[in-house]
Amino acid sequence: MPPLVEILARRASERGTPSTSQNILVTNGAQQGIELIARAFIDPGDYVLVENPTYLGALQAFNYYQAKYVTVDMDKDGILIDQVEEKIRRHKPKLIYTVSNFQNPTGITMSVERRRALVDLAIQYDIPIVDDNPYGDVHFTPNRLPTIKSYGGDAVIAVRSFSKIISPGLRLGWINGPKEIVAQFEKVKQCADLHSSTFCQYVIYEFIRHGYLDPHIEKIRTDYRAKRDRMLRALEARFPTEVKWTKPEGGLFLWLELPSHMSAKELFPIAVERKVAYVYGSPFFANGGGENTMRLNFSCATMAEIDEGIMRLGQLVKEHM
Ligand SMILES: Cc1ncc(COP(=O)(O)O)c(C=O)c1O
Repeated sequence: MPPLVEILARRASERGTPSTSQNILVTNGAQQGIELIARAFIDPGDYVLVENPTYLGALQAFNYYQAKYVTVDMDKDGILIDQVEEKIRRHKPKLIYTVSNFQNPTGITMSVERRRALVDLAIQYDIPIVDDNPYGDVHFTPNRLPTIKSYGGDAVIAVRSFSKIISPGLRLGWINGPKEIVAQFEKVKQCADLHSSTFCQYVIYEFIRHGYLDPHIEKIRTDYRAKRDRMLRALEARFPTEVKWTKPEGGLFLWLELPSHMSAKELFPIAVERKVAYVYGSPFFANGGGENTMRLNFSCATMAEIDEGIMRLGQLVKEHM
């Protein structure tokens, strides 16, 4: 729907990524963007370089095309850039896939220095970066960091979404990439579903045109920040000191590491019996591991539910330590 595409190109340009309509492809959520990229780029046995852990849905899409993975661990500033070059040389990955802002599942954000360094490596070794960025607008600090695409230009395919800033049920997202690649993706998307829902595109177009989007993003930033703070306080109060967690500067999730002998998967059914759920972490590790990790969501529950849920979970963890 051209007017929506034009708005998306204009908003990207205003934020440091000069774009025209030819750079944009509207997709059925970010997930379809990832799937189209996987379909277009991955042949069986190709390596994809991913953060460890990384977004499970991307692994599912890459798995379908029989990708192999080269994983790079993270610290609080994101991917350990010192390890990336050596792994690129050894495995010659087809793609570098990152969730640079408030990552799903860890909530970690890649630092500006590492964004620049990753772009330099991608250009040097001629490997496209896929920056899957559905959470970038949901930042709790006053300013958002410059995107990887604003540094990397055509070396980067940005995958974006309305799911976290308007509604996941509308199933709309978009890709911002080099125009030659976007033209190919358009054909691939036609094979998949002809086009995204015109009705949903109009709903979102009208929402943005009437000026509702930015105030809405401000509102969720404020609400989710308060919920993150509440969950962090509850964790401090209720969890044993042997458990570690991230302190995300945005997004929807924080990430817990239990002592290494514990299994978040084994605890899960007991937690659900006590009416508190989380996502256990192991499926987010492309090459295995992470049995002692779990992802918590702070955006959905009420403040009272956060207190109650963390109390129950803290109790359960203490009982099984
Ligand atoms: C990192 C990441 N990418 C993509 C998606 C899929 O989003 P969408 O609803 O836009 O398909 C999600 C959803 O959780 C996500 O966390």
